[in-house]
Amino acid sequence: MIVRTVADLRALVAGWKADGATVGLVPTMGALHEGHLSLVDRARADCGRVIVSIFVNPKQFNNPEDLEKYPRDEARDVALLDGVDAVFLPTVEEMYPAGFASSLHVDRLGDRLEGTHRPGHFDGMATVVLKLFTMSQADVAFFGEKDWQQLQIVRRFVTDLNLPIRIEGCPTMREADGLAMSSRNRRLGTGARAEAVAMHEALQHAARAVRQGGEAATVLHNATQALRAAGFASVDYVELCDAETLEPVGTLSRPARLLAAASIDGVRLIDNIAV
Ligand code: PAF
Repeated sequence: MIVRTVADLRALVAGWKADGATVGLVPTMGALHEGHLSLVDRARADCGRVIVSIFVNPKQFNNPEDLEKYPRDEARDVALLDGVDAVFLPTVEEMYPAGFASSLHVDRLGDRLEGTHRPGHFDGMATVVLKLFTMSQADVAFFGEKDWQQLQIVRRFVTDLNLPIRIEGCPTMREADGLAMSSRNRRLGTGARAEAVAMHEALQHAARAVRQGGEAATVLHNATQALRAAGFASVDYVELCDAETLEPVGTLSRPARLLAAASIDGVRLIDNIAV
């Protein structure tokens, strides 16, 4: 069922809850791929009712060209979601009516890595995700680990704001060669698509080196060089961070995460792996 207004979504969910159903939410911006569908499968396995939201959120695009180029294909996305209980497809006006003036900022976690390179991105993301949580009144929400920093930020504000929702992180889905699935991959030309796998390879290589006791600064420098050599024109960061706080770490004492962002063929890709 397609739902376009907050009022209709609330009425639908109220009925489900009256029947005692657990409600799962998978927030997306559409351009669905197998990564999204794995979240939907997980939600359907865990919850009696599942809502998938599709909303290309203008507030989380710091680059107007990126927003304009973001792939949109409602009919294809809805067809892929056959079997889901509700697809929430609000308009921009429904999400941000005239006079909308609020924003959610998560200190520190939201200021690093992607936060440095995409100013305002996480405020826009956190604001829309909080709205989706309150609109849907979901019991559980599912997010991909591909956007690791996003996942940590969502966990943080759910805890900080005592939101009655459980956050489930789901593993990154990868193409056969290891490239993390992303809606942006379809913008890569054939050559760049083949070269883009270097990001996952560089992270894997760096993770091995760190585990073997390599000095973080050297390992990260080498990974940056490997990305440049593979054809990434600019490398925004390759960092080794505490998995939860995302503060930089030099030695491994707690679970850590290697995260990278770099552009190839004019397409900015991100990826991360556990260390
Ligand atoms: O990960 C995304 O696709 C978006 O950031 C999200 C969570 C749907 C919020 O717009």
